Amino acid sequence: MADLHFRIATPADAPSIQQLVQSAFRAEDSRKDWTADMALGRSFTISVEDVKTTISKQDCAILLAFTKDHDLDVLVASIEIIKRANGHARFSMVAVHQDYQQAGIGRRVLAFAEEYSQQEWGATTSELNALSTRQELIAWYLRRGYQKTGEESPFPTEKFPHLALPEDMCFVEFTKHLA
Ligand SMILES: CC(C)(COP(=O)(O)OP(=O)(O)OC[C@H]1O[C@@H](n2cnc3c(N)ncnc32)[C@H](O)[C@@H]1OP(=O)(O)O)[C@@H](O)C(=O)NCCC(=O)NCCS
Repeated sequence: MADLHFRIATPADAPSIQQLVQSAFRAEDSRKDWTADMALGRSFTISVEDVKTTISKQDCAILLAFTKDHDLDVLVASIEIIKRANGHARFSMVAVHQDYQQAGIGRRVLAFAEEYSQQEWGATTSELNALSTRQELIAWYLRRGYQKTGEESPFPTEKFPHLALPEDMCFVEFTKHLA
């Protein structure tokens, strides 16, 4: 298992985070129903400015996971976390470098985000969402202890007129009580 160490991102990390996140979301994945729609994945873009804005926001952080390769620190994963009211923490943009996926890193990054939110922000609940079409990813969040809230958020299908996306595609909302 990869030896990971974590830290909070600074503005200087923005270019490497942008590369990591964009390439992870665009990557082909061998797991059936994990990404559901590769054409949609390939349309994913995020700019260095977007990342810098997130990093500089109050009550917002990007957590980074590194491993050592020949004594060099390699950025292998990141996750965006937001402090919300009433002990809620919102997670998004969880991304693992394509070469390091399916090795348990995603699971550890999610666990670290939960631990960080509890310890630093006193969070008692974490929240996230997943595209309704990504059945294997949804099953993965359920195995991580997340439960469907029953709410759905709209997906902006109108932004992708060149893709034949299911009309009822939406984001499924999840929550987890942090012990
Ligand atoms: C989602 C993501 C972060 C998961 O990271 P990861 O490091 O691959 O995750 P893990 O190795 O911890 O877990 C992989 C899971 O895939 C499962 N898996 C492995 N091979 C599989 C297969 N062929 N079919 C289905 N599931 C499979 C494993 O069983 C494991 O689940 P488990 O931990 O419950 O046993 C990663 O795939 C990613 O970066 N994707 C692109 C960005 C993205 O889609 N982010 C989520 C939306 S916000």
